[in-house]
Amino acid sequence: MLVRHARLSGRAELCQIAVNKGKIAAIQAEDECSAPLIPRDRFETVIDAEGLLVLPPYVESHIHLDSVLTAGEPRWNESGTLFEGIQIWMERQALLTEEDVRERATVALKWLASQGVLHVRTHADICDPQLTALKALLRLKEEVRSWVNIQIVAFPQQGICSYPRGAELLEEALKLGADVAGAIPHFEYTREDGLNSLNILFELAQKHNKLIDVHCDEIDDEHSRFVEALAALAYRTGMRERVTASHTTAMHSYSNAYVSKLMRLLKLSGMNFVANPLVNTHLQGRFDTYPKRRGMTRIKELIEAGLNVSLGTDCFSDPWYPLGNGNMLQVANMALHVGHMTGREEIPLGVHMVTEGGARTLHLQERYGIEEGKSADFIVVDGKDPMELIRRMPVTRYVVYRGKLIASTHPAKAQLHIGETAESIVYDNPRL
Ligand code: FE2
Repeated sequence: MLVRHARLSGRAELCQIAVNKGKIAAIQAEDECSAPLIPRDRFETVIDAEGLLVLPPYVESHIHLDSVLTAGEPRWNESGTLFEGIQIWMERQALLTEEDVRERATVALKWLASQGVLHVRTHADICDPQLTALKALLRLKEEVRSWVNIQIVAFPQQGICSYPRGAELLEEALKLGADVAGAIPHFEYTREDGLNSLNILFELAQKHNKLIDVHCDEIDDEHSRFVEALAALAYRTGMRERVTASHTTAMHSYSNAYVSKLMRLLKLSGMNFVANPLVNTHLQGRFDTYPKRRGMTRIKELIEAGLNVSLGTDCFSDPWYPLGNGNMLQVANMALHVGHMTGREEIPLGVHMVTEGGARTLHLQERYGIEEGKSADFIVVDGKDPMELIRRMPVTRYVVYRGKLIASTHPAKAQLHIGETAESIVYDNPRL
């Protein structure tokens, strides 16, 4: 494959990307290509990027593929709270079969991949003696590996200590092949159970050499402070950047004095943070009257402290969230709005959080990025810079995974009929 007229971040000139045997074989400036490394007629596929931005794939850092597309089954979440969502999910989970999970998750993965999301960290609820969701997702991971990379978190939705045989099920899930170990300390019956669940989690993750991703303090209760325990464990065990704190929405409600003390420990921990701005602005603040809290963790301050932050959709049309469509730019756009990150230097961070930031959370570093010798995974987006991507949330024109074109989208064209002839409308800002 040859990609022509590619705009790459950090390079002023347009480039050509040559792909051979699934890897990026060469990157050259267009005007240096009078003597191309590989003759052009030997390429099976030639893509003209037309000066558009070519990025490494979007990364979905947090989604629940076992529950996608179940909204309204058996009933809708009318309160919009996390806890009603968990209750409804427990009822739906009783009906789960492997085929049911496989079918729905495949649809969601196609939504994601067609929009350029090629690395996906999914949680699989393991509070089920049969481990149905986990087994279905482990099989699916193999089935789809030619077009998307999935990482699976063994996620104890009802707790490690509070659910019968929770710790045993977690260990079984890790032995079966889950990549990441999870926990949900704020949902355990007691604070002591919450702390104990984290100790069990680290023991098992270290024993089986797994990453860690915790649903941590996903509540508006300013007294929910498991993030400090998680950070201390990440620091003391040396697991550091192998640990991720997802949600941490209570941090939104902590006092500034406590956060200033907490931040020192978070920096020492080196943990990753995942925010889910669509779902958490929807679920959080539901017990507030007015003013209503936004319910997203402090991503601006975490980034300023040098910590890695990435973003997830969390849910597509399930008991927790009725919307969601796999467009990571929509997720980034919401994060920047809710996080008050609309400064000139801040807006591009939205794209960073759904690309490189996600790659750090998922530990993809060695295979991620557009560099010679790396896996040929990249997307051609319908825009020229990150500011434009966040503003317009354009489609992904071409999606390439391991050197193969796996999806393409033609952008919509608007025409205005107010003059004598139709006028084509582009949404570029000519003054920038
Ligand atoms: Fe989640």
